[in-house]
Amino acid sequence: MNIARKGPGTGSRSPRARLHTTAPRRSLNGTWQFRIFPGLAAAPDDGWDGDDAGWALGEEWTSIPVPAHWVLEGHGRPAYTNVRFPFPIDPPNPPDENPVGDYRLVFDAAPEFLEGAVLRFDGVESAAEVRLNGELLGETRGSRLTHEFDVRGKLRATGNVLAVRVAQFSDASYLEDQDMWWLPGIFRDVDLLAVPDGGVWDVFAVTDYEATDGTGTVDLSVTRNGAAGEPARFRIPELDVDLEVTGGGVIGVGGVEPWSAETPRLYTAELVTPAETVTLRLGFRRIEVRDSVLLVNGAPIQLRGVNRHEHDPERGRVFSPERLEQDLLLMKQHNVNAVRTSHYPPHPALLDRADELGLFVVLECDLETHGFEEIGWRGNPSADPQWRGAYLDRMQRTVHRDKNHASIVMWSLGNESGTGENLEAMAAWTRAFDPSRLIHYEGDWSSTYVDVYSRMYASFEETRRIGEEVLTPAPFGATAAEMHRRSLPFMQCEYAHAMGNSPGGLEEYQELFDRYPRLAGGFIWEWIEHGIATTGADGRRGYLYGGDFGEHTHDGNFVIDGLVSADREVRPGLVALAHWYSPVRIEVTDGAVVIQNRYDHVDLSGLRFVWKAEADGRELGRGELKVGRVASWEKVVIALPDELADLAESPEIVTVEAVLVDKQLWAEAGHVVGRGQRAWLTPAEPPLETGVPPRSAFDPVSLRLRELGGLRLDGPVTSLWRVPTDNDRRPGWEEMDKPAYAARWELLGLNRLLTRVVSATEQDGALVVRTRTVPPGRDCAVDAEYVWRQAGPNAMTVEVTLVPDGTWPVEWPRLGLDLVLEGAPTGMAWRGLGPGPSYPDLAAGPFWGDHEASADELLTPYVLPQESGARAGVRHASIGTEQGTLVVTVLPGGASGGVEEVAVTVSPYSRKTLATTAHQHELVADGRTHVSIDLFQAGVGTAACGEGVLPRYRLAARPGRVTLLLESREG
Ligand code: GAL
Repeated sequence: MNIARKGPGTGSRSPRARLHTTAPRRSLNGTWQFRIFPGLAAAPDDGWDGDDAGWALGEEWTSIPVPAHWVLEGHGRPAYTNVRFPFPIDPPNPPDENPVGDYRLVFDAAPEFLEGAVLRFDGVESAAEVRLNGELLGETRGSRLTHEFDVRGKLRATGNVLAVRVAQFSDASYLEDQDMWWLPGIFRDVDLLAVPDGGVWDVFAVTDYEATDGTGTVDLSVTRNGAAGEPARFRIPELDVDLEVTGGGVIGVGGVEPWSAETPRLYTAELVTPAETVTLRLGFRRIEVRDSVLLVNGAPIQLRGVNRHEHDPERGRVFSPERLEQDLLLMKQHNVNAVRTSHYPPHPALLDRADELGLFVVLECDLETHGFEEIGWRGNPSADPQWRGAYLDRMQRTVHRDKNHASIVMWSLGNESGTGENLEAMAAWTRAFDPSRLIHYEGDWSSTYVDVYSRMYASFEETRRIGEEVLTPAPFGATAAEMHRRSLPFMQCEYAHAMGNSPGGLEEYQELFDRYPRLAGGFIWEWIEHGIATTGADGRRGYLYGGDFGEHTHDGNFVIDGLVSADREVRPGLVALAHWYSPVRIEVTDGAVVIQNRYDHVDLSGLRFVWKAEADGRELGRGELKVGRVASWEKVVIALPDELADLAESPEIVTVEAVLVDKQLWAEAGHVVGRGQRAWLTPAEPPLETGVPPRSAFDPVSLRLRELGGLRLDGPVTSLWRVPTDNDRRPGWEEMDKPAYAARWELLGLNRLLTRVVSATEQDGALVVRTRTVPPGRDCAVDAEYVWRQAGPNAMTVEVTLVPDGTWPVEWPRLGLDLVLEGAPTGMAWRGLGPGPSYPDLAAGPFWGDHEASADELLTPYVLPQESGARAGVRHASIGTEQGTLVVTVLPGGASGGVEEVAVTVSPYSRKTLATTAHQHELVADGRTHVSIDLFQAGVGTAACGEGVLPRYRLAARPGRVTLLLESREG
């Protein structure tokens, strides 16, 4: 086995399409014999791979499931790196420490395979040498690419010995440096496929749709096995197509309904030969670029996309049909219309489902050489002609396998592989082979050989500039390359990094995508967090990340950056995304509802618009709006219905929801695709105050409240810090010269504020406590005044004024009050925005109403513990603990300019605990309820990869005032 050369694999047949065929298939998945060695030199040639089915296995042999990654089956450990290679850059040599696994399967073959068959491997990381009955079939390269070996004449009826030696690292590893776990093994299906004489070896059906007259064509190329004999028949029964084909040709099919992500109309076609029948699902559509605008079927489209890696918390990149289904349904349910298969071809089942459900796919080749960036791209394979064959082979395998899928709108050459002629050669081959789709590659900003100008994490300002630059004539003297780039639509193949409490800025990007026709949208980074499942000491399920497996080189939790957890729990970022990606925008104004159709291809007839009026937590009425035909991207203004005006009580909240009329493959009828609201919440009635509260309720030293109607608590105290989020831990790209916020807060001591009581006096029937809160060793302060009044036996009001003093060298994450209640939290009920959390730049999705959440739901279980869970817009909250309930009501700010609503965070953990625990499942609760009531909060941004918090969502030192009614209740 030669794993140190620059070429592609050897011995396999030329790549072809994945066919749904009647020809026999036998899965060789199952339990295989297995042994492992620490390096190639240690792996013996002891006859294990000969043709003796009864060969006596030594004691080093064990068994392993196929497909699987051996490091997740108890042999060695997974390892995570982002950009860096975990081995020396010494191409094409892999390191000596290179686990090698020997896989062996003895199997019988039914007669239908003996005439002609191939052995198909869909995924082996990273290189395999394959032998059948002692005979070398060849080697694979391209871990996520299919290899088929011809076994005609090599297969026997019984006792076949299939021997596969797999090296974890090989020359191929230099081309597979994606930001993900290194997970060796045979991890996708192994099949034996009959290849009957006269059957179909390959089909390429290029569909097209002419929007001006609504007709479609299929340009068909058919390759038969062996001597073709009779011509094949090609049928599309629904379109009355039934003809004989030899090589192929262009077939006009007349009027058709077009395919798009919004109208995933498929036609079943059959290619019939005496030996086998192949079924195709055809979607007619045209992808093109006109005047730097991306069009599908003649209409501009917006890619509302996500990047999807394959990941399962137990099985890594092993395919699971349930996970795939979960992913694609969740995407559709959250208004996602596009997927980039970062950074390799997915399991082929994804494409079948994307065709059916309606998702545009950017199908990416298995290629990334990012680690070379660490050495200034010296020796980058993309620019070394000796690697050309490997590059072309990867692209050809990528394109051939999936070329018949309507959902694929772009072929992507790979990710972050620098620049070089090998990439150009891939593009040239692809363009010649399949001119029906666009070519994408982000890594070469010259963009000379691609059809779309793609970037990742381009800032708001740069995105705006790119959108705007084509609205004016090209500058004098622009080069041909510049002119070419100006002709291209722009997309962000990655943007809005969803790591932890993130991504901020969705609204601002969406606003730009809406404003400039050149901007074709983008793909959030990324869909799934790649946590590896574990069980905590107390049996809690948790996830591990880089460094948890003793790796010498790793990138920590940078692999945990998804819109859904590894178990596909929806993170708040996805809730916000669903709002911005919604195909309908609804705005409730004083007397009307403004509705915008944001579908690219259809009107709004698939949606019903349901209104609901509420006051004081009660529904006053509901009904349906009559919305006539609203064409794509059109906006209509609809008067509020009379029933609403005639309600006996005036509503505090009017909500209009757009819901599905009919059940879809991806959601039930009634599923909400968009929502608009208007709230006019009535301020709470201030209570009658009954005098100065007893001093005994307060701590004698800190003057913090210790008891309220029997409820034991401690607070409030002025608080500015939050547990650093993943974004807080890194400087935003616009501030790379500065330390990250988390470090600046820590340096200043924002997490260690000390509060001194300045005075405590009785004044005007109130207890007035003045405090000064200062970081240790500093003199910048927040001066607070708490005016306490008794408001019943179990109630007090407190009017809080917070005023910064001195110079604060860094913006704050929040300005608020902390309280600790005895007893663990049991949940919260509140009036405000919910049910999920929101932060100023991650605020869409949650809506006005009366909400409740259990204690578990109140915090988002980010794998790396961090600030989470703030419920914003809160007017009134009942915070339940094991000890009793604290009811917090925001009283009208009135002339004093106090805030009318607060953000409430309730946690069983102190911020210190959250900040010092590395994994969610390791958090230890202290049996108390930690409450924060914030007057202001800063945004979250996307500094983990991209821009930090935008200036308008930052929180410079500022004063604030709030009046709260605090009541205790039993239970
Ligand atoms: C991009 C890269 C992704 C991922 C992301 C950060 O540069 O293409 O694979 O690493 O950054 O999470």
